[in-house]
Amino acid sequence: MKTAFIFACVVALAVVGGCQGGDLRRSFYSTSCPSAEAIVKNITQKLVASNPGLPADLLRLHFHDCFVRGCDASVLIRSTANSKAEKDAPPNLSLEGFEVIDEIKTELEKKCAGTVSCADTLALAARDAVSFQRKGLTVHDLVVLSGAHTIGDGHCNLFSNRLYNFTGKGDQDPSLDSTYAAFLKTKCRSLSDTTTKVDMDPGSANNFDASYFVNLKHKKGLFQSDAALLTDRTSNKIVGELQKSADFFKEFAQSMKRMGAIGVLTGYSGEIRKKCGVINS
Ligand code: HEM
Ligand SMILES: *[C@@H]1O[C@H](CO)[C@@H](O)[C@H](O)[C@H]1NC(C)=O
Ligand SMILES: *[C@@H]1O[C@H](CO)[C@@H](O)[C@H](O)[C@H]1NC(C)=O
Ligand SMILES: *[C@@H]1O[C@H](CO)[C@@H](O)[C@H](O)[C@H]1NC(C)=O
Repeated sequence: MKTAFIFACVVALAVVGGCQGGDLRRSFYSTSCPSAEAIVKNITQKLVASNPGLPADLLRLHFHDCFVRGCDASVLIRSTANSKAEKDAPPNLSLEGFEVIDEIKTELEKKCAGTVSCADTLALAARDAVSFQRKGLTVHDLVVLSGAHTIGDGHCNLFSNRLYNFTGKGDQDPSLDSTYAAFLKTKCRSLSDTTTKVDMDPGSANNFDASYFVNLKHKKGLFQSDAALLTDRTSNKIVGELQKSADFFKEFAQSMKRMGAIGVLTGYSGEIRKKCGVINS
């Protein structure tokens, strides 16, 4: 299996002028399946046009895939009667976007059977959807990658303790801007709300830009994991350096490239699954 890290490389090519990494490279399928990238792009763009939340879904899916067991698209495998799949593990926190990968993969199998891996399909789709183009990652990478929270939304119950019961005394998280907290309370009415979703980056929730870091600096990060980036001196400094979109894009491209290379299988390791949700029989 060959993962694309392709990603970032598109941007990184312009920025650092190169893209090497063993069997991980852009245009990997140029001879074995020349239309692969175009197929992924066509379908992804078509679906994004009717579902603006899709880029966030795909980006998050790719992140979860890479962090659980390396970027092998194992996150896509469905549970069977006697084996519980990664996608059903507790931290899956409502991952979405699976159907999109299935649709693209079906098309790829029609054109080039058994050639394009599921990990690459996922990586390419995540790249095309955002149209920018601990595991070996530094603190710097993690701060930069958290900028992915510039798109998408979060469920109330994943942060409402910050609004209503931060230390168990019915209090609010003091590290949360009070105006923003008041706004969030109008959306999430109680601790028991598990269904309402709120934009993670209010005002530009569908725009991939640096506003996450601008908001974060004003104590308007939605999750505790966001706010935590300000308490550590090193990461706080990095947040300050990512206030401009141009700087963020450059750094994001490089960190995504490193994330996309975590534990990938290349050459003869792994297999090219026919359907991304099922191991080949
Ligand atoms: C550093 C640790 C991280 C934590 C603790 C974290 C936590 C979360 C949580 C709790 C949600 C909301 C889920 C929900 O309410 O359903 C979320 C959403 C999201 N996360 Fe993260 N995240 C982290 C890093 C990342 C990274 C590295 C990326 C991508 C590079 C990423 C991309 C996203 C995206 C795009 C969404 C929105 C999903 C959607 O709207 O469908 N996150 N994250
Ligand atoms: C992608 O879509 C364009 C325009 O709809 C079409 O001309 C092209 O043939 C498509 N490419 C592939 C590989 O499907
Ligand atoms: C995530 O996990 C929950 C609980 O284990 C499960 O009900 C749900 O179907 C999973 N979501 C996906 C998209 O697999
Ligand atoms: C707040 O947290 C405390 C301690 O965990 C708990 O006893 C209390 O019931 C919580 N309050 C609400 C409204 O859930």
